[in-house]
Amino acid sequence: MAVGIFDSGLGGLTVLEAARARLPEVDFLYFGDNSHAPYGVRDADDIYQLTSKAVHEMWDRGCNLVILACNTASAAALRRMQEAGVPQGKRVLGVFVPLIEALTERQWGDNSPPREVAVQHVALFATPATVASRAFQRELAFRAIGVDVEAQACGGVVDAIEDGDMILAEALVRSHVDALMRKMPRPQAAILGCTHYPLMEHIFQDALGADVQVFSQGRLVADSLADYLVRRPEMLGEGKAGYLTTGDPRRVSSRATQFLRREITFEAV
Ligand code: DGL
Repeated sequence: MAVGIFDSGLGGLTVLEAARARLPEVDFLYFGDNSHAPYGVRDADDIYQLTSKAVHEMWDRGCNLVILACNTASAAALRRMQEAGVPQGKRVLGVFVPLIEALTERQWGDNSPPREVAVQHVALFATPATVASRAFQRELAFRAIGVDVEAQACGGVVDAIEDGDMILAEALVRSHVDALMRKMPRPQAAILGCTHYPLMEHIFQDALGADVQVFSQGRLVADSLADYLVRRPEMLGEGKAGYLTTGDPRRVSSRATQFLRREITFEAV
């Protein structure tokens, strides 16, 4: 049975790639809701409806575990989906917690009270909807005290990446980093709080400077998934991957092939 990896578009491929490298015996099914991307400019209700529809589709296709490899969906829809009730034997998880556990030096699932941590000045780069939700700050407050977070809503970056316009994406990333650094001149760490942004990680690092530690989610989510699956050997498969999109499969396949530098073939949902 495949593990489902969901994103509004192509960004979740950064999580899928890391997960496949870390867990070569697990089967995965990727679902990109490309016809509705970007999610980051939609309101919370809209994001909930779209995410819920896609996750139900993946559950119906046999994915017992679906990972929202999308911060915007994790911020705006995850808790509401869990509260609405998940069918027997199915699960849906987000991507915030592994990232915040890494930032706050915690082991997986350590729920002890919040404490002081090494980093005190953190830059958060995310979509407008994720920034507006303040979900990152809320999860951080459960685990750490005294951390100053400056958030930058990176309008336009997801659209540019989905369109394959990497020149525009780079210009936007540099201007969002500039804007952040006017508010927080010396961040110690930067969080790439959108799964599209690792495709531009070298630009973020270059614009921020080498002494800023950049956290991105691929490897962190893959490690926590590995930890989760250790106790569920029935989820091991043959290392296959399938790719579904609500968008135009030819266009989405060509973008994915460009980003991952190998042939990726999407099928229509
Ligand atoms: N990859 C999604 C995220 O992590 C992008 C959301 C969007 O479509 O704006 O937030």
